[in-house]
Amino acid sequence: MSVITTHRDGEVLVVVSDNPPVNALSAGVREGLYAAIQEANGDDTIKAVVVRCDGRTFFAGADITEFGKPTGAIGLNPVIDAIEDCPKPVVAAIHGTALGGGLEVALGCHYRVAVPSAKLGLPEVKLGLIPGAGGTQRLPRVVGVEAALPMTTSGDPILARQAEAIGLVDKLVSEDSLEADAVAFARSVIGKPQPVSSSRTDKIAGTDPGVFDAFRKANARKLKGFDAPEAAIKAVEIATRYPFAEGLQMEHDLFQPLLAGRQSAALRHLFFAERAANKIDDLPKDTPILPVTKVGIIGAGTMGGGIAMNFLSAGFPVTMVEREQAPLDRGVATIRKNYENTAAKGRLTAEQVEKAMGLLTPSLNFEDLADCDLVIEAVFERMDIKKDVFGKLDGICKPGAILATNTSYLDINEIATATKRPEAVIGLHFFSPANVMRMLEVVRAAKTGPSVLATSMKIAKTIGKVAVVAGVCHGFIGNRMLAARQQQGEALLMEGILPARVDKVLTDFGFPMGPFQMSDLAGLDIGWTKETSDPTRVRDVLCERGRLGQKTGKGFYDYAADRTRTPSEEVDALILEYAEKSGHKRDDLSDEEILERLLYPMINEACLILEEGIAQRASDIDVMYVHGYGWPSYTGGPMFWASTVGLDTIVAGLEKYADKWPDLKISALLKDKAAKGEAFA
Ligand code: 3HC
Ligand code: NAI
Repeated sequence: MSVITTHRDGEVLVVVSDNPPVNALSAGVREGLYAAIQEANGDDTIKAVVVRCDGRTFFAGADITEFGKPTGAIGLNPVIDAIEDCPKPVVAAIHGTALGGGLEVALGCHYRVAVPSAKLGLPEVKLGLIPGAGGTQRLPRVVGVEAALPMTTSGDPILARQAEAIGLVDKLVSEDSLEADAVAFARSVIGKPQPVSSSRTDKIAGTDPGVFDAFRKANARKLKGFDAPEAAIKAVEIATRYPFAEGLQMEHDLFQPLLAGRQSAALRHLFFAERAANKIDDLPKDTPILPVTKVGIIGAGTMGGGIAMNFLSAGFPVTMVEREQAPLDRGVATIRKNYENTAAKGRLTAEQVEKAMGLLTPSLNFEDLADCDLVIEAVFERMDIKKDVFGKLDGICKPGAILATNTSYLDINEIATATKRPEAVIGLHFFSPANVMRMLEVVRAAKTGPSVLATSMKIAKTIGKVAVVAGVCHGFIGNRMLAARQQQGEALLMEGILPARVDKVLTDFGFPMGPFQMSDLAGLDIGWTKETSDPTRVRDVLCERGRLGQKTGKGFYDYAADRTRTPSEEVDALILEYAEKSGHKRDDLSDEEILERLLYPMINEACLILEEGIAQRASDIDVMYVHGYGWPSYTGGPMFWASTVGLDTIVAGLEKYADKWPDLKISALLKDKAAKGEAFA
């Protein structure tokens, strides 16, 4: 059966697409849509057309799997032109998401109606592209430049109500009767002059030419390093200066090099990698999911509070247990403050803040966790304390409850021995700030039950996280790889390379911050004690001197009251002194060598992680580093990047710098793939 079918509702032709899962605009859909418009054109009894989709969504865009392949019988532009040229009003009836090519089809229609839960957007920049079927030319003509610039450069969709406010949607209709309401709307416009997006000028006439540079300046930090958003700005500017037909050609000329470029390949890789990360190879699809309606958190510190917010925001009642009143009060106050800050920025209403806070039950009594379906522990990073907590939970929690730990490094198999139900124990490693960072490392311990794992993956999606599965080892996937970079960062200091230089090399590469900026933010004293302080290590000496990072106004850098960072003369002098003492002559390393020294060992560690089966697949590591550690997404993540550099180059680099890496063990997998000329993506 064709993916496009038509039926009549009186004088209205209803065109329906059924191309699961997301009604991507594959060749068959394009052909069917084109044929349906011809049907309407050729039949005098048809007075109007409604285009809608079956299944969970309106067209969610071009079929990404077709990129780079021949177009087939008809491309998307001629289909949209045919819709726009149809002498009878064509109404897009939108539910789910109208994204990319899907929104471009809707923009080609003369009218758009949508249910309130629908979202509309041009997410192409997230794939390293710009809209390629007239979206950059029609959208500003319909909504104006001010609304079109953020939509085309961020790729974030907007809600139907907002779309109605800016004129993108003509009417909101009932969730339960989309087709009937769309048909009624279509009937109401029969015989009226048809708005044609491509020939409108009302919203773009008189656009201030300065608006584009102002937008670039205001968004410079967010857009840094990405090619596509700049092309999108150019394309929208073109829409204000050239007739539609010329603009469409210029959009095409901007689109093609992006499609062939490295950034888009990297971002498309990540799109599919994120979806693959959800799949656990040895977990049967029909694994039962455990019901989770009530959540417990232990520890109201940095992580406990942030983790709690994820669940409160998603509407789960949360019981948060502490050992003493003061940290509990502090934790609750921080959660409130965070919500109120978000509300002050207009991203939450006062009612939403109160609703979330109303779901929170602070407590000093572990017994209050008895009826929770999922309990997440976020107490101090000490095995004895964690085991004590899990022993208590074992005696209190109901059978079937998931007992999770947020540990960063500790052996979860050992933590599980504190219970008589190791199958219930799992790692749910959130990233700081836990209410913001999208990454969740789900650590599967030796005895974790299949349902506990499957439910954890589902919960991750419910609270908007991207989950990656890891096995148990020191630091799991993420922190274990980071340790390799950290070790080289410190080695570079001992060679007299100053923190600001090291950090700059990584921020130039695209990380939001370098290792020493990150240490200052997290606190240098994590894992440091006076008793165990090592006077041969720069970091330890800084801790001894009270330079604990941003929280004390000084760490590797000095900080002003407004957190402005400047290199510290004291620290830099100390580093040079240590470098000299350590016998390392200050080498004038190139930026390239610094980058290789920092990143190649991470790739090697990642390959060891793959060899040991700690990660399921290389692309999971890419997803984790992009969402958890700020690895620039336009390079595709560490494994994709390593493949573009060439695995043989990575091996040669590791061998070249071998003397800088005590106990370096080059991964056999890496060497093998390099020798065969293979890549990870
Ligand atoms: N093409 C091909 N496959 C797609 C697709 C697309 N545009 N969008 C989603 N899929 C596939 C996914 O890979 C996944 O496959 P899998 O089950 O085999 O892993 C399946 O559809 C379901 O996707 P999700 O798991 O993402 O489903 P959700 O319900 O969570 O999300 C969605 C649905 C919001 C539509 C999300 O899939 C999405 O954001 N899709 C991409 C939308 C997009 O980027 N569109 C623009 C494409 S570029 C374009 O249109 C160019 C044009 O300007 C010419
Ligand atoms: P924190 O020190 O901010 O908070 C820990 C809280 O646990 C404190 O409020 C403390 O009073 C409470 N607590 C300690 N023992 C307790 C007990 N027996 N019963 C109840 N409450 C108890 O620590 P943070 O940073 O939140 O870390 C918590 C866990 O999260 C650690 O395992 C850490 O390794 C992990 N983690 C930390 C990250 C970070 O960036 N801070 C990132 C990811 C994981």
